[in-house]
Amino acid sequence: MLDYEPPSRIHLLSPLNGHLLVNAILLLTDLPRRSQRLASHLRASGELLVIDVLDPDQGGQARDLSTVTAIVSDVSLSHSAQVAGLRAYLDRLKPRRPPFLCLLHEDSSRSRVQADALGATRTLRAEDAARGLVALLGEMTRTVSPAVDIVAAISEADEALTRIFELGRSGSPLETSVIAQGTELVVDAVNRADIRAWLDVVWRFDDMTHQHCLLVAGLAAGFARQLALRPLDCRQLTQAALLHDLGKSRIPLTILNKPDKLDAHELAVMRTHPELGHRMLQDQGYPDAMLAVVRSHHEALDGSGYPDGLRSERIPDLVRLITVCDIFAALIERRPYRRPLGGEEAYDILKGMDGKVDPDFVRAFKPLAEAAGGVMVVAA
Ligand SMILES: [Fe+2]
Ligand SMILES: [Fe+2]
Repeated sequence: MLDYEPPSRIHLLSPLNGHLLVNAILLLTDLPRRSQRLASHLRASGELLVIDVLDPDQGGQARDLSTVTAIVSDVSLSHSAQVAGLRAYLDRLKPRRPPFLCLLHEDSSRSRVQADALGATRTLRAEDAARGLVALLGEMTRTVSPAVDIVAAISEADEALTRIFELGRSGSPLETSVIAQGTELVVDAVNRADIRAWLDVVWRFDDMTHQHCLLVAGLAAGFARQLALRPLDCRQLTQAALLHDLGKSRIPLTILNKPDKLDAHELAVMRTHPELGHRMLQDQGYPDAMLAVVRSHHEALDGSGYPDGLRSERIPDLVRLITVCDIFAALIERRPYRRPLGGEEAYDILKGMDGKVDPDFVRAFKPLAEAAGGVMVVAA
């Protein structure tokens, strides 16, 4: 019997316009406890079935495998009982077995031969699974379901974002190629799918900063399309969104990842992130408009914002656009201490911030807020 909580099922309150199908990924394991982390990564790609290949009756539950569109094995191939159990499940999915990704726990030619004999489509070292798994699955299943494209694109964009934050944290100069690649992925994915599909995947991220930056980036790309901006401006807006909270890479993780509301001191530390980010990007050849976004995205038209208390005329359009996306994203995000708001509810709050945010841009944002739709509920 499985000795851990079964994987969450994702319930969607509104349909995804066919862009994100509910795929079932089958995760076969011989040690459910070890596979828990992997399971949480895979949940971002759709429904997940976890089966312990060493448990003959699966806790008495009959498992329907008809919706499986990809298989991941997290089974050690060094013991014959495990291999036999794995083979039995793989055989159940014949003759049209979906793509099969086999994780290798032993870096030996014997386990590679074993994976080949089991008919693995691809192999990946188990220790690399946390980083590369979702993207690789997306690549493998692209021909099966276009839905996985957006999951793969978000996973790749998140990898670029992780790299950007790692460089920021270590004080190394940012690699412009990583930023450009992240921007391209966001623009391309939002153009090919729609904002709702983007949001539905990003909502599943546990890391609050990543969830936030990817939400703002997706909304910025969608907003640029909505405003029919030129491709160059669209890229600039999306890039600014990806980088706008870069300064958070220098905020202590105890504050950044605090599951509760911040106290006054912590809030003061958190509010240094625009200046920190600005300092990090200064003198590195970034356009002034980009630096302005990083420094001024928490300014308000009435001068009540921070860090500089800028008033309306000193806040450029690019900043105003990002501020609208930033506030909306913060309202619809999953936070441990409050429920996320639906698109309509969040838009009403944004609309009520008259005097602080640009009313023309807020009005123009409405279709995007409507497309964001209802809140996704992740039930245990
Ligand atoms: Fe910010
Ligand atoms: Fe932000």
